[in-house]
Amino acid sequence: MVKALCVLIVIGFTGLIQSLPGSGNNATQIAEATYKNNNCVNCHAKVDEPLRVSARYYEWQFSRHQEKGVSCDKCHGGDPTATDKDKAHVDVLRSSEAQSRLSRNNQAATCSACHQPVVNAFVQSAHYQKLKSVGLGPNCNTCHAHMATTVIYSPKEVANLCSNCHNAADFLPPRPQIPRRASEAKMALQRANGVINWAALLLTEGRRLGLTLTEEQNEFKLAQQLLSDAKVSWHTFKLEDIQKNADGAFQKGTKVKDGLRKKIVAD
Ligand code: HEC
Ligand code: HEC
Ligand code: HEC
Ligand code: HEC
Ligand code: HEC
Repeated sequence: MVKALCVLIVIGFTGLIQSLPGSGNNATQIAEATYKNNNCVNCHAKVDEPLRVSARYYEWQFSRHQEKGVSCDKCHGGDPTATDKDKAHVDVLRSSEAQSRLSRNNQAATCSACHQPVVNAFVQSAHYQKLKSVGLGPNCNTCHAHMATTVIYSPKEVANLCSNCHNAADFLPPRPQIPRRASEAKMALQRANGVINWAALLLTEGRRLGLTLTEEQNEFKLAQQLLSDAKVSWHTFKLEDIQKNADGAFQKGTKVKDGLRKKIVAD
């Protein structure tokens, strides 16, 4: 049994490496075809000065957005068909400028073109109201690194982030329960992610063994949906609801995982 699990972990790990963006010729070829006519990408791939611009290209190159065909212009605007820099940059403004599509007030609307459920949740929050009125509160890029794929906060870092405003002297009335509960909500999300990844590995293994897994596959899809709902609900900052949703996803995922383990061991 232990041995079987070790094998599974190795298989899973290899799978992970193979699915890293940009690794392997296949992924590279697909990426090159996707961006062949996009001059933002073509030109920026060769821009190595100034550093503050060049570094951004490399963040994007290894992001989920790059993998999924989301080019610079989808967020920054501009004309990706123009080969001339100034023509391409028409309406590309620095995010520090109020009119930029990525300024603190416009960012959520720009992301909502593709992430409507998340943004709908976010705009309900007190944070969004404060961002709109006085520019105070975490924005999308506070938690998602520039190209907005990575979530850069561990549970402890989440607590620190919230503490910056909610448990700092002389700022807002201190509410130490906010960072504490936020850290728990983040842990609950990570645990749910973990069990769903585990179930996904077991499903792959079950298929490899030729087992019939129709029911398990359907249950797995439901568990994934619960996890996705939990992630969306994170953006409301209603900490009780987030934890409830994350724990719901965890319980469903655990059921699927345990069922699959039984079946695979029995085989
Ligand atoms: C022909 C080359 C070229 C093309 C095409 C191009 N860029 Fe640039 N871009 C640059 C260079 C070089 C810089 C560095 C600053 C400068 O020289 O203006 C830059 C700077 C930028 C900046 C940073 C602006 C700042 O000053 O902080 C952004 C954002 C940007 N480009 C986005 C885009 C987008 C989006 C597209 C496509 C619609 C695009 N670029 C097309 C060459 C290009
Ligand atoms: C998913 C949306 C998204 C995509 C795709 C994206 N960016 Fe950005 N970019 C942002 C956001 C948001 C900011 C401002 C916040 C920050 O600094 O993290 C930003 C900031 C920048 C900056 C710093 C200047 C500024 O306006 O703040 C540069 C340079 C830049 N991006 C270049 C690029 C290039 C080049 C590409 C394509 C290779 C690209 N970005 C793709 C969202 C995106
Ligand atoms: C043109 C469409 C588009 C825009 C605009 C866009 N995204 Fe995305 N985003 C995607 C796609 C497609 C994915 C991959 C979804 C998937 O894998 O199911 C994604 C994935 C993500 C993820 C999840 C990454 C992961 O590893 O699972 C985050 C976070 C994200 N986007 C944040 C943002 C933010 C913040 C903005 C605005 C600055 C933004 N996106 C703008 C299309 C977009
Ligand atoms: C306080 C931090 C924080 C802020 C602010 C934030 N997010 Fe997130 N976001 C998260 C966390 C945490 C997750 C869940 C990550 C995980 O568990 O994989 C997440 C997940 C996501 C996902 C993936 C959802 C899915 O179903 O997989 C998208 C897309 C996303 N965020 C977009 C945004 C956008 C757009 C904004 C701004 C309107 C934003 N986020 C603001 C922390 C934040
Ligand atoms: C940049 C400052 C800032 C950061 C960082 C920040 N907040 Fe806030 N938050 C605010 C402001 C401002 C308000 C509105 C307070 C008010 O109007 O009383 C608020 C309100 C809230 C509320 C609503 C309180 C209520 O009674 O309605 C919750 C919940 C909350 N924040 C949770 C969080 C969590 C969780 C984090 C960390 C992930 C966080 N905040 C990070 C500034 C911040």
